[in-house]
Parts: sequence; C-alpha cells; structure tokens
Amino acid sequence: MYRPWGDRMTEKGLEALFSETRQFAPSPDFVSRANAHADIYGLANADPEGWWRQQATRLSWAKEPTTTLEWDLPNARWFADGELNAAYNCVDRHVENGLGDRVAIHWVADQPGEERTITYADLHRMVQQAANALEELGVREGDRVAVYMPMIPEAVVALLAVVRLGAMHSVVFGGFAADALASRIQDSDCRVVITADGAFRRGSVSPLKPAVDQALESCPGVEKVLVVQRTRTPVEWVDGRDHWWHEIVERQDPHHQWRAFNAEHPLFIMYTSGTTAKPKGIFHTTGGYLTQVATTYHYVFDHKPETDICWTAADIGWITGHSYIVYGPLINAATQVMYEGLPDSGGQDRWWRIIESHKVTVLYTAPTTIRTLMKWGHQIPAGHDLTSLRLLGTVGEPINPEAWVWYHTYIGGERCPIVDTWWQTETGAIMATPLPGVTATKPGAAMRAFPGISLEVVDEQGHVVGHGQGGYLVITRPWPSMTRGIWGDPQRFFDTYWNRFEGRYFAGDGAKYDDDGDLWLLGRVDDVMNVSGHRLSTTEVEHALVSHHAVAEAAVVGASDEHTGQAIVAFVTLKLSATDAEADHAQTIAALRQHVATVISPIAKPRQIILTPELPKTRSGKIMRRLLRDVAENRQLGDVTTLTDPTVVNMIAGLMGTHSSDD
Ligand code: PRX
Repeated sequence: MYRPWGDRMTEKGLEALFSETRQFAPSPDFVSRANAHADIYGLANADPEGWWRQQATRLSWAKEPTTTLEWDLPNARWFADGELNAAYNCVDRHVENGLGDRVAIHWVADQPGEERTITYADLHRMVQQAANALEELGVREGDRVAVYMPMIPEAVVALLAVVRLGAMHSVVFGGFAADALASRIQDSDCRVVITADGAFRRGSVSPLKPAVDQALESCPGVEKVLVVQRTRTPVEWVDGRDHWWHEIVERQDPHHQWRAFNAEHPLFIMYTSGTTAKPKGIFHTTGGYLTQVATTYHYVFDHKPETDICWTAADIGWITGHSYIVYGPLINAATQVMYEGLPDSGGQDRWWRIIESHKVTVLYTAPTTIRTLMKWGHQIPAGHDLTSLRLLGTVGEPINPEAWVWYHTYIGGERCPIVDTWWQTETGAIMATPLPGVTATKPGAAMRAFPGISLEVVDEQGHVVGHGQGGYLVITRPWPSMTRGIWGDPQRFFDTYWNRFEGRYFAGDGAKYDDDGDLWLLGRVDDVMNVSGHRLSTTEVEHALVSHHAVAEAAVVGASDEHTGQAIVAFVTLKLSATDAEADHAQTIAALRQHVATVISPIAKPRQIILTPELPKTRSGKIMRRLLRDVAENRQLGDVTTLTDPTVVNMIAGLMGTHSSDD
C-alpha cells in the first residue's frame, strides 16, 4: 500500500535529530499571561462549545449572540444570531478605549531607509476614508472586491474598508500572473479591483497594474479599479474605470458610520489549490472566524499587547497574512512589524536588522524561509542583537528538525519556545500547536490540538489508528473558523472534505500521534504540493503545461527538496508534430517553464522537466504518478505490475539525468 506519510520518517539523518523523546521543556521562566490557567485544555475539551462561547466575548458585538453552534453537516453556523462589524473590532473600538496612540503597524519598506509608523488612530482614519471611497465607487454589502497588492499598509486598510461595508475581499497573491488573476476575479464575480502600480522586490519594480489591465480584458464585470501609487512607474489608464487611491481616498471624510452584520455574514474568499486544476474559492464568515483568530493569536503567541512587537513574516496574499497580520493581531490591539520586501532585500542580514531595530518579540514565519536564512549561515544573525525575541513560530509545511534546531539555537538563543502551528486556508485559524509555557516541544512536531479542537488520525477505513502509526488527519468536530464552503460549489465542498470519512473533516494531510501521544504532521496525502510554503495542485500545473502548443501530455509530481520542501517535477510528452520542431530539448524545457510562469505564476515553474516519449500508464490508461514520484525522488520503484509496459518507467528514470533542467 502507498504510504505517503512514510516518506518523511525515512529521510536521511532525521532519526538522529528528532528522536521522539528529544523534548524541550516549557521554559520555566516563560511568564505567560495567556496560559494562566494551566488546565485550559481540560476546560475546553470538557465543554468545547462553552469554551468557544466564552472566547467569543473577545469581540465587541452590536448584538450579543444567544446561540453557539448549529451543525447540519457540512454546514456550520456559529453565534448565528449575533451581529458585529469586523473593522470596528479591529480598529474603532481600540481608539474608543483610549489606544489611539498605540502603534498598529511599523511598516518597513523593501529598501532600507523607508519606514512608516501607523497608530490605531491613523488606521482608524485611513479605513474610514477608504470605506467612504469604496462607497463612492459603488461598493455595497455583499459585493466582492479583488485585492492584488504589495505588502504596504494600504493593503490592510483596503481589506478593513471592504469588510466595514459588509462586502467581501478576495485577495490574490501579487505573484500570480494575469490569467490566474482573471480566473479568480471571474469565479467570484468581483465588481472592483484594488491594486498598485507595482511592487518593489529587492529594489526593482515588479508590475501589478499591467497584469490587472490584461486580466480585465476577460472580466467584463469589473467596473472600477483603485490604484495605489507605490513605484511611480507609468501605467496605462482607462478613464472612468481607473482611480488613483491618493486622489479619491485622501479627499474623503474621515468619518464613516459602520453597520453591524450578522455573524454568518460572508467576510472573505481566499483561493487555494485543490486536487483539480480549478482553484477553490474558500470562503469564511465573520463571527466564528474572528473569534478563533483572536483566541489563537492570544494563546498561541501568548500575546502581551502592552509590550509585544509581533512580526508575522508572511504575505497578505495568503491565509497566514489574513489571519495573523490583519484580523488576529488587530482584534488583539497588537503592535506589529509589516515588511514589504524579500528576506535579502538590502542584504542577507535584513531580517535581523529589522528585529534589532524594532525590538521584535514574536516572529512567525515559514520553514522554507528558515531554511533559506540557515543556508546563508548563522554568522549573519550572530552579528545582531536578537535578545528582544521571546517566542518563535512556524507555519505552512512540516518543519524539518535541522531547521527547527537552527531556529531554536541561532535565532531563539535557545531561550525562545517554538510554536509549530498546523492549519489551512480552510481551517481559517491555527488548529494544532504547542502552547508556550504549557506544552513541551519536539523539533518537527505540532504536538497537540488547540483547546476546543479535536483531531484524530485514521486509516483508510476511518478507524482510529494506534499511537506510532501513520494515517489521515481528520477533524472530528466543527470549529468556529472553519470555512463555510467553496464559493459557488457546495457539492465540491461536501465531496472534498466531508465525504471521505463519515462525520469528519478530511484535511488532506498525513499525520501520526507518537508513543507519547504527540502529533506529527507528515505532509499531504493528495495531489496538492507544498512548494516553499506555496500550495499548488499537480493538476493545475499539468493543465498549464498541456495548454502549450507542443505538449501532448504531462504528469506532475511533488518531489522532496532540501530547500523548498517539495519541488515540482514534470514529465512531458511532446506532440508528434512538435518533436522535430522542438529538437532542442534545453530550449523546449526553458519555453515550457516560462509558459507555466506566464499562465500561473513564477512560483509554479517546475524545478525539472523531463521530456519523455511515453508516460507510465495502467491498462485502463491512468498515469501512474506514484511511480513518477519514486523516479523523481530517486527511490526504489514501487509495484509496477499494473503497468501496460513496465519498461517505460525505467526508461524515464534513465532520462532524469539527461533531459532535465534545474535552476
Ligand atoms: O499540508 C499542510 C501544510 O499546509 C497545508 C495548508 O496550506 P494553506 O492552505 O496554503 O495554508 C498554509 C498556512 C496555514 C496543510 O494542509 N501545513 C501548514 N502548516 C503546517 C503544515 N504542515 C505541517 N506542519 C505545519 N505546521
């Protein structure tokens, strides 16, 4: 049997580093306010609904909810008769409580030297003006607004202004190409797009507005485009449709009267890759989502609003940015660093300079970035004072123990607990994590479910497996921030998540509880790849490849990669008519990689493309991707007996070294 979760256990050198008994005790000197009740797990698990009802009091409700959970699988409604406004909770109420002078965002630009400090009072004014501007542009309750922006404060303002009006944002990561942007705008039928002229990346400009212009050629439903001037690069302009942010927003009245919306009012859509070529529009609603992001932010980061300077080093274009740059921190009145650039914009020590100068206390990032920083060498952080840090977090993919230990030793000075947080776009907020000051940690383990969350590991038949055995991770109870569905496709929502194991949510991840009962995540068990923390589907990349005129067939697999976690490896057969014309393999491969970048995004470029005259297929004509994965990972081949021609896969293994490209 194929055991996807087996792979990670046999990686070289892993056993030595992460023997399951190697524990890091919760630091005794970790004075934790959030964890003042040691028995928070007992409390929550004895009465999960009561616990979440209690947590909902972190929000300011215009109408207090009298109900907690209504569950009609797969449809959950949390706090369903309550009413609130998300933007009011993130901003206005803090100003009303006298916190207007507190810094909300220390914004740090891509290039050193440019910074902005935005207090809660500033944010309040900016959000109200932006809300008025959006109203002027015709945005109404229930509308969808696409956001395609760099990491600048206006991105946070845009999101809050949209939800203040009861509209939904659909943020598309700025690294996506025009086609990918267009399909997302069409799928959710957005009326307005908020963007910028361009984004800075290591000092050079990466254009955004031109991609929007191109995307909108196939999006007739978009009436208005609001453009922030960031790079001052010349852009094309469509009169009547396009408006500069600084012209329309800054002349607005700084007062905007918020309205309360129902707790189940839709808040945002976030597209993510599933197992088919079409990305899923995962949508979240207001009361439950905000409750769980607020609660997890408070406990997992042991948040101390008066003294913490938190930095979630993620992009707003992904769920981590939504939950732990925008909603979680702002509801908690946190002070944050928001950084526009790449880890080496302005030098390989840029991150450490930021931490040193802003006295960052909590750093939350992805294993892929930690591995990059590690590759540059520990002498780089060693040259900076990182003693302000008190807690480190990681998210997005399994963290390899080498990276965990490096993070702990060289960044955390062996003093900072590490929270390895497992969750998904669909879960909305953290679901599994150690709690600092309470839970011991093991390098590479997410340790346990967050209070109020119930996770199990099951076999193919849905039976719970014993400690020490791998299986599928399922969530056994609804949780407040769970997605309410796939936009426009309730059947797909049920089929993807709720139909595999009766009554339980299928996460798509392999996992195991070790002999101590601690949870380990073992990677995806479906056709979803995790490349540098970016979630991509194999089918999406296959579709992009076969849309190239020379390609007959393509099979894509995610192969383990030391730096990116997984890397994309594509096996491609060319059309007969194309084989002569494409005789220069290196050139063809380069063209195909570029084609994928243009159709999806540079993040989806295959690491390797192998041109092969044939793909391994079963007698029923199905491509055997599992064997291709064995080839890509240089492993002994699994069972080949069901193949029409078992020699094909050996031939492909032989080609790996010759007809491939790496960069
Ligand atoms: O495979 C898991 C992995 O990332 C997937 C979710 O990706 P996305 O929706 O893009 O959200 C990422 C940020 C929350 C999961 O199904 N994943 C996320 N966090 C971890 C992880 N795998 C192992 N350990 C984690 N801490």
